[in-house]
This record gives sequence, C-alpha cells and structure tokens, in this order.
Amino acid sequence: MSGPRIPLARPVFDDDDRAALLAPLETGWVVQGPHVAAFEAAFAAYTGAPRAAACSSATTGLHLALAALGVGPGDRVVVPALTWVATANAVLYCGATPVFADVDVATFNLAPDALARAARGGVKAVMPVHLFGLPADLDAVAALAPGALVVEDAACGLDARVGGRHVGTFGDAGVFSFHPRKAVTTGEGGMVLAADPAVDARLRAQRSHGGVGVPGRAPFLMGDFPHLGFNYRMTDFQGALGVTQMAKAARLHARRAALAARYNALLADVDWLGLPAEPAGGVHGWQAYVCLYRPQAPDLAHVDALHAGRNRLMAHLGALGIETRPGTHAVHMLDFYRESMGLCAEDCPGAWVADRASFALPLFPTLTEAEQDEVVAAIRAFEPGRAA
Ligand SMILES: Cc1ncc(COP(=O)(O)O)c(C=O)c1O
Repeated sequence: MSGPRIPLARPVFDDDDRAALLAPLETGWVVQGPHVAAFEAAFAAYTGAPRAAACSSATTGLHLALAALGVGPGDRVVVPALTWVATANAVLYCGATPVFADVDVATFNLAPDALARAARGGVKAVMPVHLFGLPADLDAVAALAPGALVVEDAACGLDARVGGRHVGTFGDAGVFSFHPRKAVTTGEGGMVLAADPAVDARLRAQRSHGGVGVPGRAPFLMGDFPHLGFNYRMTDFQGALGVTQMAKAARLHARRAALAARYNALLADVDWLGLPAEPAGGVHGWQAYVCLYRPQAPDLAHVDALHAGRNRLMAHLGALGIETRPGTHAVHMLDFYRESMGLCAEDCPGAWVADRASFALPLFPTLTEAEQDEVVAAIRAFEPGRAA
C-alpha cells in the first residue's frame, strides 16, 4: 500500500516494542494481566499520578470515568464544541446531556466566557479538552463552574504540563488515548487517572463487567457484581507494548517539540496563517501541529471563503505528496447532534470556524528536517487569495 510521501503522522516502533508484543505469547496469558498492570505503573510514574487504570480506548475511558463519578440521567455536562465526537458521546452513554460551549479560535480550547454561559444554572461536570496537546485553562474551569466534577479529556494530552504538573492529574479524572495518532500508541487503548481511590476501584470493576473480588472467598469461585459494568479491558499485548512505548515517551516528545519549534520559526512571517498557541506557564504536548487558515478574519461572516481556501491549500499540499487533515470537528454541527439537539453554527461559532479553517501539518518524531523544509516551502508557494 503506498501512502503519501510525507504522512501526517507515523508511530515509532523499535525492537523493544517488537519483543514486548511476543512476551504474552510465551505465557499464554493474553487478556488484561501483568503487562497491563506494568503499563499502568509506568504511566502513573510518568505522569506523577497516584494511580492509573488502563482500558480499551479513551472513549471507553471517558465513559468509565463519568459513570464511576456518578454522572447519569438528568445531569448536564459541559463539553467544548470543538473536540472529537467521543467526548460528547461518552456523556450520552451515561444518559446525561452534553451542553456545548464554544472554543477560542486562537487556542482551540474552551473559551472562558462560553464556559461561564454553559455552566449557568448548574452543571454536574465539565470536560475540559487539552486539544492537540495544548493545556486547557483549568483555573477558569474551577472559577466558572465551582462544585462541578472535572473530567479532563487528555486524549491528546500526553506530555502537556501546567506549572510542572501533568495534565490529567488536576481534575476528578483524566483520560488519555493510545490511538496511533497520539504521542505513544498501543493500537487502540486508553488510561484513566482517578483522583479518588474509591472512584478508581469502581471504574476498575466497571471496565470488567462490574465484578469485584471478595477477600477470603475461594479463588475458584466468582466475585460479586455490585455495579453495572462493561467489557472495556485492555489486552496484555497492548499492555506490553505500552510499557516499551512509555520508556521512550520523553524522547519522542522532545523530538516533536523541537520540530514544532522549527515550524514556528519557519512559518512565523506567513501572515495568512494562524500558528498554534503556546501555553502560558506550561508545556505543550504537541500531539498535533494545527494551524488556522485565515487570510480573512476567522469569523462566521468569512467561514465559507475560509473553508474553500483551506481545502484548496490542503489539495495543493496533497498534490505534492504532503498529507494534512482538518484539526478536528465541531461536534454541535455533526448531523447526529445538530438534528437531535436542534443546534446551528451560531451556537458555537468559534468551533465552526475552527472546523472549517483548521488543518494539521505532518508532525511525528521521525519526520526529517528536509521533509519539514518541503512542507514549509509548499505552504510558502501557496497563494491564498485574500478577497473578502
Ligand atoms: C479529544 C479526544 N477525545 C477522545 C478521543 C477518543 O480517543 P480513542 O480513539 O482512544 O477512543 C480522541 C481521539 O482522537 C480525541 O482526540
């Protein structure tokens, strides 16, 4: 299968990863077991979290976190309108209602004024998303939605820090993804960091059908099942791969950060391009390098022109063998949400503009500087067309 010459992303696998994947075959224990436990320990140590629970994806991790925290029917949960659809879907899985809040087009993260509006009247929880690896403003969440549970969607947040502390460890729970477009990968996979040990225990039960072991009961007998549960377990193949991926996570992040700094320097004078925001007092995880196409003002009045121009730019890059993708989508405008909740672009205009005008450039640890120079030259050769 031949792909683009310069892909958007490419995971890094080495001989340690290959050996790790074979290890469970030797013992025959391939479902959640000792390798998953070792991955959980490595992830907790890396992020500084007191505990970590692995599961089958960030989507199932978000569902587990919300369910274990007691989010259920009748509850309202604030979700940024610009995120992967999974953030909102997890709320619906619990029978609760997502309340979409707009994002700031300069950061792609929750806009504090929109959060304040969405939280008016009381909400059970807020799900700040550290989109593309940029830490969300968690102080604003605490100030504007006091008393609400906080479930950080840190699917893209590995290596993102605020004041030295890893994202995903600030809220009641933080959830990470190991999909291949993320900083480290286990194919599919997720990790939940729960602040409260009781919540951790509950979500560990719920990821495995709601069952718990009973101290003193004979090991050949079954446990009890006090919770509604799911099968959201990670396999031991994934756990083993997770351990070797975590061993190189800091090195992979350093390389992504260096490449992002190089894009920043080489593209700084392209006046029609909005470059990714830098975190104030924190570290960017650089899951993706997402720009805004903005020869015109990034607002609803110009959204169709921006969208056409952004697509022309992506086609131009694609013709040169350079793969790009829109940053992510505006969930309130996806058919399911738009139709079932009666939403429109004006409800969250920043998210809609970001959906229509953003694009991610190739960023992965093995991207060479020569390849990066090609990407930059191709962008510079593009004529955006500035008519309003
Ligand atoms: C912000 C966000 N949340 C949740 C998810 C879902 O992650 P997963 O694919 O591991 O279920 C993603 C995946 O891209 C994401 O970007």
